[in-house]
Amino acid sequence: MSSNSITRVFAPVSIGNVSLGFDVLGAALIPVDGSEFGDVVEVKDADTFSLHTTGAFAHKLPPGTDNNIVTLCYAHFLEALVKVGKPTRHVAMTLHKNLPIGSGLGSSASSIVAALHALNVHFDEPFDNNTMLLMMGEMEGQISGSIHYDNVAPCYFGGMTLMTGQEEQVAIQLPVVDSWYWVICYSGISVSTAAARDALPKKVEMADALTFGRQLGVFTHALHCGDHALAASVMHDVIAEPYRKALLPGFDEARAFSMRNGGLAFGISGSGPTVFAVCDDAEKAEAIRQWLQRNYVQNEDGFSHVCRIPHRGVVEQQVKE
Ligand code: HSE
Repeated sequence: MSSNSITRVFAPVSIGNVSLGFDVLGAALIPVDGSEFGDVVEVKDADTFSLHTTGAFAHKLPPGTDNNIVTLCYAHFLEALVKVGKPTRHVAMTLHKNLPIGSGLGSSASSIVAALHALNVHFDEPFDNNTMLLMMGEMEGQISGSIHYDNVAPCYFGGMTLMTGQEEQVAIQLPVVDSWYWVICYSGISVSTAAARDALPKKVEMADALTFGRQLGVFTHALHCGDHALAASVMHDVIAEPYRKALLPGFDEARAFSMRNGGLAFGISGSGPTVFAVCDDAEKAEAIRQWLQRNYVQNEDGFSHVCRIPHRGVVEQQVKE
């Protein structure tokens, strides 16, 4: 981009795990009214690097900019440019921190994806999508203590993504069920991903390993042949939810209400505390949203939305100053 242009990138919220795919399945989300619900990063050329933070949750970021994930993304991106022999330059970046931290909605992934994609676009796209995704996973690993792509991949590409475990193609797209509504509710409490991972046992029981594999296989098959009832029927979390739900006040009641009132599936979004309900009826989805808003939200930071899965993830714009 020319020196007087601003590159602006929006990166949506995402659900990691989607109950049945711990660390390997994720979905991007967008509210049904189409509004932007995710972090935004702007990049422009400058004489020296700077980061400005703004937005509803900027005050919850760690103090200073040196350890901000966007600064770390810039440093990482410059190193990658140097490695491939491309010129580097200084930029001024702005992070619009619109997502709560430790919400289970892929808040760090949203900042990372917006920052790295904005840099790649601003520097005339020296890296392909898969290389970018590998970088995004590394940065996510720096925050959460382990590399997992179930937020960064859907946030970047949109849709529902399945991780392959192969560097050559880190993620593949699954068919999206366009008739499903995804009700999400954030309680307002912050749960760090690292702490939520520490709550998990280091080994999985044989019976749970078999259920995990069977469900993921059946789910993928069901999506490909359009059997949505079959897909919903295997959305159970045998890996994390049994251990993590103790961290989430009101979880069992929220599940019971949602499943009694039209929910096809219910679970923890990522490492929580956000929960999600899947529903194929707009009115029922809205009724579940209202109940969760009244009963699951714990403080003024909490919120709820009825969402869809968007077919695209990041959205970029270039504007002349
Ligand atoms: N798969 C990750 C976990 C997602 O559940 O720990 C974190 O957002």
